[in-house]
Amino acid sequence: MPGIVIVGAQWGDEGKGKATDLLGSRTDFVVKFNGGNNAGHTVVVGDEKYALHLLPSGILTPGVTPVIGNGVVIDLEVLFHELEALSARGVDVSRLRISANAHIITDYHRTLDKVTERFLGKRSIGTTGRGIGPAYADKINRVGIRVQDLFDESILRQKIEGALDSKNHLLTKVYNRRAVTCDEIFDDLTSYVERLRPMVADTGLELSRALDDGRTVVFEAGQATMLDIDHGTYPFVTSSTATAAGAASGSGVAPSRLDRVIGIVKAYTTRVGAGPFPTELFDEWGELLRKQGFEFGTTTGRPRRCGWNDTVLTRYASRINGLTDIVLTKLDVLTGIESIPVCVAYDVDGERFDELPVSQSDFHHAKPIYESLPGWSEDITGARELSDLPANAQAYVRFLEERSGSRISAIGVGADREAIVQVHDLID
Ligand code: GDP
Ligand code: IMO
Ligand code: MG
Repeated sequence: MPGIVIVGAQWGDEGKGKATDLLGSRTDFVVKFNGGNNAGHTVVVGDEKYALHLLPSGILTPGVTPVIGNGVVIDLEVLFHELEALSARGVDVSRLRISANAHIITDYHRTLDKVTERFLGKRSIGTTGRGIGPAYADKINRVGIRVQDLFDESILRQKIEGALDSKNHLLTKVYNRRAVTCDEIFDDLTSYVERLRPMVADTGLELSRALDDGRTVVFEAGQATMLDIDHGTYPFVTSSTATAAGAASGSGVAPSRLDRVIGIVKAYTTRVGAGPFPTELFDEWGELLRKQGFEFGTTTGRPRRCGWNDTVLTRYASRINGLTDIVLTKLDVLTGIESIPVCVAYDVDGERFDELPVSQSDFHHAKPIYESLPGWSEDITGARELSDLPANAQAYVRFLEERSGSRISAIGVGADREAIVQVHDLID
C-alpha cells in the first residue's frame, strides 16, 4: 500500500503544503523528513490561512498523524510556538510523533548561521538564518544533540560541553561574539523536556508497521531538488537531502516502501536567496509574476526572485527523484499573459545544453533558449476538469508535460484547497 513522496522540483515554494493537504483526507500519516523551520508552507482552508514552518502540512487534516522524522532538525521554541498557535485555532495537534533521533537546533546554531553569513559578505548564501546549516554540520561532525539526549541529563551536559569546546573558540576568536555557557543551553533545552516526552517515539518502526498494515503514508519534503545538498546548485543550497532519496533516510522507512513520487512544479519559477537562476526576470515580467503570484517568502518575507518555467530543471527533477507524477501549481497566475516563454534548453557560451550542465560555472553562464506559447485571458480559478481549461492553457500544460518526462496528474488553479484540476488519481 502506498508510501507517497512529495518533493519540490524547483527551488522551493512550489506549493508542496497545498499538495500534501490535498491528499490529507485519504492519508493516515504525513512525515516531514528533512530540513527544519527554514520551510514555509502556506495552506488556505476556506477563510483560514495557515503558515507552517516546522510541522508537516498534514497536521491540518483531522485524523492524520503528523510525524517529524529523524532527518529533521528541530528548534524546540519554534515547535511549541507552532503547536500552541495551531491549538488556539482549534487544530488537534495531539497525535504528533517526533523521532528520538532527530537533531536539535540550539541557540549557538542560530548565532553561527547569522554570523557566518555576515562574514561571507558578497558570497553569502542568503540562508533563512534559522541555524539549519550549523545544526546539520554538527550532525555530520558527530557533535550534534539528538532529541533522545534530552532525556538523560548527564549525557546532555557532556554533549553540550563537547559541542561548545570548538563553538566558543569560533564565536569569541573568529566572530568576536560572547562565549556561550553549558548551563544556559542546558536550561533552555531541558525546559521543554516534559512537554516533549509523550511525543517522542521510534518513528521509523511506527511508520514501517503502518505501511505493513496497509496505511497510506505521505512523506513531505521541505525545500526542493535544486536546493538539495548533493543535487542542487551547491553551495547555494540547503544542508539536507530534499530529494526523494531523503524520504527513506530521513524517516527510517526502506526505499522499497516508496511507491509514488510526486514532484510539485510551479507554472513559472521562483527562488529565494542567492545562486544561479537561468530564467530569472529582472524586468516588468518578473514584477508581474511576483505581484500576481504573491511571491514573498512565508518564512522571511523576502521578495522571491521570479522567472519563466524551465523544463530543463523539471526534466532533471524527474530523473533525480524518479517522479511518477507532477502536480503543476499556480497556472492561474499566468492568466492574461499574451505569449508565455518556456525554457527548453540552455545556451552556454554558444553551446546548446539540453540537460543541466554538470559544471556549476557553466550553469552560472547558462542563457535560456525559449519557445513561446500562446496565453489565455479567461479566469481559470473555477476549472475542475482538464476540459474546463481554455485550449491554450491545456496546450501549455501538455507542452510542460512532454518536456518534463512525467505525467501531470493535478493542476493548481488558485490558492484555495478546492482550486485544483484533477487529471489522474494520486493515490491508488
Ligand atoms: P511550499 O513551501 O512548497 O509549501 O509553498 P509555499 O506555501 O511557500 O508557496 C506556495 C504559495 O502558493 C502559497 O501561498 C499557496 O497558498 C499558494 N498556492 C499553492 N497552489 C496555488 C495555485 O494553484 N494557485 C495560486 N494562485 N496559489 C497557489
Ligand atoms: P520551502 O519548504 C525556498 C533557501 C534559502 C537559502 C538556502 C539555504 O518553503 O520550499 P537555509 O536556511 O536552508 O540554510 O538556506 O535555501 N531555502 C528555501 N527557499 N523555500 C524553502 O523552503 C527554503 N528553505 C531554504 O533561501 O537560499
Ligand atoms: Mg515555502
